[in-house]
Amino acid sequence: MFGFGSKAYLLGLDIGSGSIKMLQLNESKGKLKVVRFGTKPLPAEMIVDGSIMDGLGVVTAIKELAAEQKPKNKNVAMSISGTSVIVKKITLPPMPAEELDKQIKFEAEQYIPFDINDVYLDFHILSEEELSSTEQGEMEVLLVATKKDKLNDYANAVREAGLTPKVIDVDAFAVENMYCANYNVSPGELTALVNIGASVTNINILKGRVSAFTRDISIGGNKYTERIQQDLGLSLEDAESAKKGQLPGVNADALHQAIAAVNEEVATEIGRSFDYFRTTSQDDIASIVLSGGCSKIPSLPNKISEQLGIAATVANPFRKLDTTALKKSPEAVERVAPEAAVVVGLALRREGDR
Ligand SMILES: Nc1ncnc2c1ncn2[C@@H]1O[C@H](COP(=O)(O)OP(=O)(O)OP(=O)(O)O)[C@@H](O)[C@H]1O
Ligand SMILES: [Mg+2]
Repeated sequence: MFGFGSKAYLLGLDIGSGSIKMLQLNESKGKLKVVRFGTKPLPAEMIVDGSIMDGLGVVTAIKELAAEQKPKNKNVAMSISGTSVIVKKITLPPMPAEELDKQIKFEAEQYIPFDINDVYLDFHILSEEELSSTEQGEMEVLLVATKKDKLNDYANAVREAGLTPKVIDVDAFAVENMYCANYNVSPGELTALVNIGASVTNINILKGRVSAFTRDISIGGNKYTERIQQDLGLSLEDAESAKKGQLPGVNADALHQAIAAVNEEVATEIGRSFDYFRTTSQDDIASIVLSGGCSKIPSLPNKISEQLGIAATVANPFRKLDTTALKKSPEAVERVAPEAAVVVGLALRREGDR
């Protein structure tokens, strides 16, 4: 999951409910270069609550994006998120490898609210330096369970679009991968990565470079659009433009109030997850790093900082990447950067990673 092998980088493909993103990295002379990057917006009803409602629509959108980007590499790193993915850190006594599989399945049955036969189970044994505060000899294991039907829907859409899924990741971990590649992380300090998309917010609290807590909550940009639509009596399309400050002649006061109301709701929901995390940890969260399209709402980072009493900044997923090959102005790249958090994290994966 965290390794640096010698194999080529996979094609990053983030199938978000608001848009699909595709990104390819190349390494040359020790510098990482973005050689392909494109997005394709999806209509609101294609992916709802993390489930693909219109399979053909999603396949077509991936095909169109691939036709625009013409990636040479068909091998994909993709990810899923939402309530059908469960991530849990467990502590186990030392045991031989052949017992571990059985024990993990047993542990998973305690923690996972779905039938164990309906999920794919994956686990990652945290190495010595990744450990938090376990007793000598104990093992910390990161358990990931994904509903089979959901994962199959996403993987099949990718296959039907002519691409080959090689790594299937979780959004929250992809954001972590992006963050650790671009920023200097101080060991022992807690950083909350909060990726606010269209329908889902992925929270991943890192201690140093290791995930201490993850949770996905069902809130995001759609909440703003719906609220603006109702309060200002606009169509969905106009509400979306108004949210982005792109609808001339709109009632500015009403717009401001609608956005402020949802800002408060978003900050409260994030705060709830932090409170839950605090019941499991003594450590303070030192900072919040936002990403996702919703982090572009100009008043949101400040609102989160003020309400939660923790400094919040917006991540730049291209911070250490060379984007000159995209032939876009630095401003144009900066404008789409927050939405690229997941796809950059995916594009940093190589074949054989897990
Ligand atoms: N300039 C902007 N101002 C406000 N909101 C914006 C802006 N640009 C994009 N957004 C919003 O960001 C959201 C999309 O973000 P993102 O691309 O991170 O989500 P996604 O990955 O498609 O969705 P999800 O992960 O939730 O399924 C949409 O709700 C969109 O309206
Ligand atoms: Mg997303």
